[in-house]
Amino acid sequence: MTTILFAIAAYLIGSISFAVVASKLFGLADPRTYGSKNPGATNVLRSGNKKAAIATLIGDCAKGWLAVWLAVRFGPQYGLEEGGIALVAIAVFLGHLWPVFFRFVGGKGVATALGVLLGINPWLGLATLATWLIVAYAFRYSSLAALVASVFAPFYYALLFGVDAILLAIVAMSALLIYRHGKNIGNLLAGKESRIGSKKK
Ligand code: G3P
Repeated sequence: MTTILFAIAAYLIGSISFAVVASKLFGLADPRTYGSKNPGATNVLRSGNKKAAIATLIGDCAKGWLAVWLAVRFGPQYGLEEGGIALVAIAVFLGHLWPVFFRFVGGKGVATALGVLLGINPWLGLATLATWLIVAYAFRYSSLAALVASVFAPFYYALLFGVDAILLAIVAMSALLIYRHGKNIGNLLAGKESRIGSKKK
């Protein structure tokens, strides 16, 4: 029962789309109506408003971190075990992808996955972030950076902690993230993917 309650709370936290919230606060158009139509920091950046993009990035990352942190900090005293923490990690991510507050139309999960990884372990999150930054700096594609980082994240976890339920959650998260980037993968292969900093169309 405790595990289910923590997972539901995590899903609800994940369902808050900071791209939509920040865009409203900054008086911008709904990010689901321009660019890639993805409610995420990369697409909000296409509005030209860097502050709104940073607010989106921080909010979406923080919610992933918060859900896992709450589970790790308070879960054990209510009987939450490793498998429960893995479930919470997936639940907050699913909330972002299919948010109950936004008719189940969510984002691709990059910032939220980063938050989850930081919540599991700061070094795991930082290694994955460093991977994202290196690829983004080299190629200027946010999606490519996310795809490469999501492939590396499970390996970083396995190297640090070995094989357990949380590794399975990270593998599932990476698989879903790659699935959500199907259109980006097509665009990358066709040479049509927009680079970081390009404006909305
Ligand atoms: O944060 C998602 C990113 O990897 C791709 O976003 O808007 O270019 O599809 P977008």
